[in-house]
Parts: sequence; C-alpha cells; structure tokens
Amino acid sequence: MNQKKISVKPFENRPGSKKEQVRQMFDEISPRYDFLNHLLSANFDKLWRRKVVEILKSHQPERVLDVATGTGDLAVLTAKKLPDAQITGLDLSPKMLEVAKKKIKNTELEHRIKFIEGDAENLPFEEAHFEAATVAFGVRNFQDLDKGLKEISRVLKPGGVLVVLEFSNPEKFPFKQLYGFYSKKILPLLGSLISGNKDAYTYLPRSVEVFPYGKDFEERLEKAGLQPLQTHRLMFGIASIYTAQKK
Ligand SMILES: C[S@@+](CC[C@H](N)C(=O)[O-])C[C@H]1O[C@@H](n2cnc3c(N)ncnc32)[C@H](O)[C@@H]1O
Repeated sequence: MNQKKISVKPFENRPGSKKEQVRQMFDEISPRYDFLNHLLSANFDKLWRRKVVEILKSHQPERVLDVATGTGDLAVLTAKKLPDAQITGLDLSPKMLEVAKKKIKNTELEHRIKFIEGDAENLPFEEAHFEAATVAFGVRNFQDLDKGLKEISRVLKPGGVLVVLEFSNPEKFPFKQLYGFYSKKILPLLGSLISGNKDAYTYLPRSVEVFPYGKDFEERLEKAGLQPLQTHRLMFGIASIYTAQKK
C-alpha cells in the first residue's frame, strides 16, 4: 500500500481540520460552484456524470446513495435516468445542499430525492441499506479516505455497486504537461477571479496531485471490502471512473 501523503487541506493559513475547512470552502463557493464547474471543465463534468449514471443503470438499483452530492447534479441526473429509483444525496456543506434543494423544488423529483446534511465518514444509515452508491469529485475531499470508503461499503448490500468519479493525473506527454499548465496556472486564476476564493481553486490542483488514482485507488477500494470491477480513464487520464462491488 502506498504510504505517501494523499491529502492536503484547503486553507494553509486558517485553523481547523480538513473536514471543517472543506465544509467552509464549499459553503463559501456554493453560489458560483455550478457555473465554475461547467466553465472550468468545458462542460466535460456533465459528460462524465452521464457516464456514471450509464454504469449505474446497468445495475438497476432501487435505492441509491449519492455521497458528497454537493449541488446535487449527479443525484438529479440519476433520478431522471432511473425513474424507479429513490435517491439520497448527502453532503457536509449546508450551503451546497441549499442549491441542490432549489433545483428540485416544486418538481416531481422532490418525492424521489432526499437531500440530507451528513458526513461520509459516519453515515446515518443501517448496514446494507443501498443497492448502489456514487461519489463524484468527493472522495478527494474526505478527511480520511479509507474511513469514508469503509462507511460506504458498510451501507451497501452485498453485491451492491459503488461508482466513483474523481480527477486523476494524465501521465503521457503532451497531456501531462498541458494539463499541468492548465490546472496550476489557468484554473486557479479563473477560479479565484470568478468565485472570489483564491484558496479553493489552488486547493483543487494541489489535492488532485497527491491523491491516489488508477491501481492505487483500486487498492483503497479493496481495503474497504469492495471488489474493483472496472476503471475507465477519461480524457487521457484527467479523470477516472471506478466501479466496484461490495463483496
Ligand atoms: C467538488 S464537490 C462535488 C459535488 C458533486 N458531487 C458534483 O459532482 O458536483 C465536493 C463535495 O464533497 C463534499 N464533502 C467533502 N467531504 C465530505 C464528507 N466527509 N462527507 C460528505 N460530504 C463531503 C463537499 O461538501 C462538497 O460539496
């Protein structure tokens, strides 16, 4: 198992644990989060979430937990594409959840999606409650990755699936160099100009750089009692989708 540092905190000059800082940061950027997400990824984030839902669809789950649901885009897409499923979206940040709740207010999705405040590392559900779980751009923000994955594994039924979408690192020339320049120079500049939060958009490339991906992430899944089934590398490795099954 890789013992290197896999986690950084959002704010170098504020007090608090990573979890407290992550909650603060997402509360602060929540009003601009969706806009920036789509802009900075040139809308690829939407395409990638669609792929997550396609994978989920092939398993036909009845109850789906979207961990670190944020402003709820993946939960909403899942509800639309799996009309018989009940979705629970859970997040640490109350302000991100406010945006999520507005998206479904007065729509029929209000009866199929429940948004709740909570911590991935201490999930408020009994064992084996869900047939499927998803996490999009969330696992990198967990304070304790192994604890979060173990908790998700605990609430999944045996045979249930977890689909994780997360940034990874392109390894080949010239994508590694081009993406490195974009993520370390352009993205923090645009992100801080538009959101007014410089730290959030320097945290993003810093946290991606140290986070495990590929085989290293698959090892973490296994350690949590999840059998990796398939890993899709997206756009030369800028992001990856990991599918794993509860043993
Ligand atoms: C980059 S956003 C992703 C939101 C959404 N899944 C998406 O695809 O846009 C990361 C989210 O993870 C949440 N988060 C981080 N650590 C968490 C934890 N331990 N438990 C629950 N949510 C967490 C943050 O509050 C934030 O809303």
